[in-house]
Amino acid sequence: MIADVMKAYNEVINDYLYDLLSHCDKDYPVITESMAYSVKNGGKRIRPFLTLKFSEFGGLEKFNKGALSFASALEMIHTFSLIHDDMPCMDNDDLRRGKPTNHKVYGEAMAMLAGDALSIIAFEIIADAEADDKAKVRACKALSELAGYKGMVGGQVMDLQGEERKLDFREFTKMNALKTGALLRSTAQLGLAAAGCYDEQKCKDADEYCACIGRAFQIRDDILDVIADEAELGKPIGSDEKNGKTTVLSYMSLDEAQKLASDLTYQGINAVKKYGKISDDLCELAEFLLNRRK
Ligand code: IPE
Ligand code: IPE
Ligand code: MG
Ligand code: MG
Ligand code: MG
Repeated sequence: MIADVMKAYNEVINDYLYDLLSHCDKDYPVITESMAYSVKNGGKRIRPFLTLKFSEFGGLEKFNKGALSFASALEMIHTFSLIHDDMPCMDNDDLRRGKPTNHKVYGEAMAMLAGDALSIIAFEIIADAEADDKAKVRACKALSELAGYKGMVGGQVMDLQGEERKLDFREFTKMNALKTGALLRSTAQLGLAAAGCYDEQKCKDADEYCACIGRAFQIRDDILDVIADEAELGKPIGSDEKNGKTTVLSYMSLDEAQKLASDLTYQGINAVKKYGKISDDLCELAEFLLNRRK
């Protein structure tokens, strides 16, 4: 069962993340506490899990240290994106991963700085990784592009524009591909970089899988914002409606949106299933994410 596999991997990922945080310089207690608060408070760890799975897909052994560093760097970037996403100037939400959001505990300025620091420490973690320099440069390049102005940040900009006016469907598709798809795509890039895999077809198929499940992931997120149980989800329900967001439900019904997520999921699965056993967990994960409750 994929849930059991994820649980086993998450234990290793959490240990690795906590160890990295425990090595932060003790001379900077407030900012490091604020950073750790948001990283440590749960989270499904989908992105690091995928990064490790793609390192195996690229030919590396399980739990390779370099791959774990790259996976942790990505979770730092993802956590930064969540801290900033929740701030009053963006989605203004009070609950994240089942706990008060960072700015509710540490104040807006510290939340902003914790996000800044997490986005930067990601690149320090990559620089320090037990991997060869070529892999590290490849990882830095991929992560900076996919997280930055033409990646996740660029998608968040479109998300804010989508509060002012309803985006057309092409813009909406691009917004999702960027704000959520880009960091999902970085999982393959980081995993394959750690593995030193340059097989063009494999890299292309991995990217197609990620792009598809990335879009499906945000569609399911938009659906959960309407139908989920807040306690189970660990973040507020109805946040999108409160903010007048353009979401998938601006164009179609819940059933149609779930069907679109399903189509994208199977398009993603089709891109990698030809590789056989090594892609089994990727295929199972995609289906698991399609019906997730949180
Ligand atoms: C939430 O991501 C933000 C989106 C891109 C939809 P996750 O649903 O992966 O959040 P955590 O990491 O499990 O808290
Ligand atoms: C998240 O989109 C995109 C990010 C880059 C963080 P949402 O704003 O829908 O994510 P949640 O629902 O707050 O987790
Ligand atoms: Mg948002
Ligand atoms: Mg949000
Ligand atoms: Mg959402």
